[in-house]
Amino acid sequence: MKKITISNAPAYTSPNSMTLICTEKPDGTTNLATLAFWAFASANPGKIMFSLNKGAYSLELLAGKKEVVLAVPGVELTGALIECGTCSGRDTDKIAKAGLTMQEVEGTNIKAPVPCRLLIHAVVAGTMDADDHVVHLCDVRGVYGDEEVEAVFGWKGYAEFGAAQKK
Ligand SMILES: Cc1cc2nc3c(=O)[nH]c(=O)nc-3n(C[C@H](O)[C@H](O)[C@H](O)COP(=O)(O)O)c2cc1C
Repeated sequence: MKKITISNAPAYTSPNSMTLICTEKPDGTTNLATLAFWAFASANPGKIMFSLNKGAYSLELLAGKKEVVLAVPGVELTGALIECGTCSGRDTDKIAKAGLTMQEVEGTNIKAPVPCRLLIHAVVAGTMDADDHVVHLCDVRGVYGDEEVEAVFGWKGYAEFGAAQKK
């Protein structure tokens, strides 16, 4: 084996699960941000965890409302993954910019893009400082799936996006 850096490690775990983290803006509309650093954290009761960089508007929004929908997008939303990961909702309406159609999510005002394979509605239970990121542990409130939708994954780390059947 050769010694590598942690930033090169995701290339070794590809295909990597990709999500769009959906949060509520003060005007009631939804903000979307591309998020790779997430995991299931507990099964009973359900918990998820994710890590947000300290510059993200999503971090600020979550500090206020503490509610999130984690969306696993369909492969049709590959362009949105790039759009939503390269600009901030502070000064951009990403839904309009990416031309997304949104869907209602049961039990929350936060919307999710169409199509998605999986939606996890959760509330923040706690946070932990992780230097340039903040780790969030969340209690799951509702989970919704659609097996007909093919998820999009990060390949070569996060250099390319495509379905899991790519290789
Ligand atoms: C492929 C990819 C994966 C990303 N993963 C994360 C992540 O796991 N955590 C994070 O904080 N930012 C991640 N980002 C960066 C955010 O999406 C980016 O900072 C975004 O502008 C935040 O939007 P916001 O300011 O509207 O919250 C990722 C970006 C890309 C393109």
